[in-house]
Amino acid sequence: MSNSEHTLSIIKPDAVERSLDKEIKNIFLANGFKIVKEKKIQLEKSDAEKFYKVHETKPFYNDLCAYLSSGPIVVMVLEKENAVLANRDLMGATDPNQAEEGTIRKKYGISIDKNSVHGSDSTENAKIEIDFFFKD
Ligand code: CMP
Repeated sequence: MSNSEHTLSIIKPDAVERSLDKEIKNIFLANGFKIVKEKKIQLEKSDAEKFYKVHETKPFYNDLCAYLSSGPIVVMVLEKENAVLANRDLMGATDPNQAEEGTIRKKYGISIDKNSVHGSDSTENAKIEIDFFFKD
């Protein structure tokens, strides 16, 4: 039975700055994802604070929000069977130093902050995150 699902993906400022967005999009396509929505934007810090609200009690919250709003990002809705999990597998561990060979963060990530991509961590959060960026 088909379990086609949507997830939110962000190509973060460190990757856009290095002009890696096209290359990263091609990795998604090569791994069977469809890019059903896409836009390139720069967030205000207040928007980044809303987006990462789940992390507001974490010590890294302020730096994280400053970083996400520091330059252009590419935001996409990806579609695939079990897209949330498939995207997390393809991205690799949050810390690029812990990520497995062949994952996006292993290949492009610079540090735990500059880890090149974000992906929704659950189907529930995927809906919330997609609405955050693409609500009409
Ligand atoms: P992301 O998947 O976008 O979700 C939250 C981000 O916080 C995460 O990627 C990391 O880039 C960043 N971050 C910074 N420090 C930490 C940490 N100690 N643990 C988890 N995430 C961190």
